[in-house]
Amino acid sequence: MSRLVVVSNRVILPSERVQRAGGLAVAIREALSSSGGLWFGWSGELTETPEPRCQTATKGKMEFAVFDLTPAEFDGFYNQFANSTLWPLFHYRIGLVKFSRSALETYFAVNARFAEMLIPHLKPDDTIWIHDYQLLPMAGELRKRGVTNKIGFFLHIPLPGVDTLAVLPGLGPLMRGLAAADLIGFQTERDLQSFKDYVRQEAGGTISGNGAITCFDRTIEAGAFPIGIDTRAFATLAARALDKPECQQLKEGLGSRKLMISIDRLDYSKGIPSRFEACEELLRAHPEHRGQFELVQIASPSRTDVASYRDLRREIDRLSGRINGAFSEIHWTPIRYINRTYPRQSLAGFCRMAAVGVVTPLRDGMNMVAKEYIAAQDPDDPGVLVLSRFAGAAAELGSALIVNPFDVDQCADAMHRALVMPLDERQARWRTAMDTITRNDVKAWWTSFTTRLRAGQTRAAA
Ligand code: G6P
Repeated sequence: MSRLVVVSNRVILPSERVQRAGGLAVAIREALSSSGGLWFGWSGELTETPEPRCQTATKGKMEFAVFDLTPAEFDGFYNQFANSTLWPLFHYRIGLVKFSRSALETYFAVNARFAEMLIPHLKPDDTIWIHDYQLLPMAGELRKRGVTNKIGFFLHIPLPGVDTLAVLPGLGPLMRGLAAADLIGFQTERDLQSFKDYVRQEAGGTISGNGAITCFDRTIEAGAFPIGIDTRAFATLAARALDKPECQQLKEGLGSRKLMISIDRLDYSKGIPSRFEACEELLRAHPEHRGQFELVQIASPSRTDVASYRDLRREIDRLSGRINGAFSEIHWTPIRYINRTYPRQSLAGFCRMAAVGVVTPLRDGMNMVAKEYIAAQDPDDPGVLVLSRFAGAAAELGSALIVNPFDVDQCADAMHRALVMPLDERQARWRTAMDTITRNDVKAWWTSFTTRLRAGQTRAAA
């Protein structure tokens, strides 16, 4: 079988300790470590004068090739176009979108540099799989430089509806670059539908009865491939985590109180302020829960150079202070808001200890923490997942308590229901969800995408 070359902005190098839960890079590492292949991307480092060649490493069946960005590239490509234009737009936050033509140019230039840095590492029969919104036009940059290999692309974040997409200046060239891939994967059928609507309504393309998409002078394929986690491995990690010091400390701090857990990057798409407001409403509407639970919110700092992320941090600091000020007792604080990262095993243990997992993003491509929360549960005494209908995971996890995160009262009701749910209902709901994520695990995601990519026919449009 041809070698797989995976391209993503973030790469977890063999020397790195994984601190985060969820996330694209964790999924790639889990899958690539068993299938083998080359992982190519940004080193995570900035240098004024980057080396012309990649740094390389090997671990087991995995090879790594990474390169540095300059501070100017990082700013225009990552802080500005990727995270101040594409990220808010694709998460339906048009009000937060900032656009500058120079940032768009830097974004294309960095995608071109990704292509140039990768080409010396390519073998003729490699299959290339590019990941996420940082690298939308990279396939086009590879084609411009004569690369004829099979190329797949997977979008980990939502693709908004065509009216929202159309807001973006430079959308045409971006989508032309994307359509240079042979297979484009999305998290949900809804994202796939947005792409098809874009093709028909904005790009003047067509979609044939067998699903082949013709646009920008090429015929390509697209599909929904919901990403999974390594369910069995995470369940084992969680079960073994309970005697770790951090889990023990949390247990001692809680005493007999129930734990509600939320684990996110500190990002406005995650709905942290509305979640806190829902917790406040729960305390107001159900005083019987006062002193009986704690909401532990772990929010790891993210994209701290971007103003909207700094604003969010201030808002959450203020809100958690206000709610805790109003409801805390001398021996109890309702919200424990922790602004740091933890080792993955500790996070798995926290999930297992939690009676309720609160995953209420305003919009999310998938949200793998929702799946990790399910995987971490004790089958004899599982907790309850409260899940936003706007997380991609909701398409698979219908047995969770599904909420609209904009409806604070509904979220408070769901938290209440979760806290008082009888064991047999908890078990039935959890079993359904666990069966789904065991079937649709990271290996199934990986295999279904790469099999379809390798099998597909690349065609120039007739
Ligand atoms: C999301 C994105 C990924 C990104 C990750 C962490 O999961 O889909 O592409 O790598 O967030 O964000 P960061 O900006 O730190 O890479």
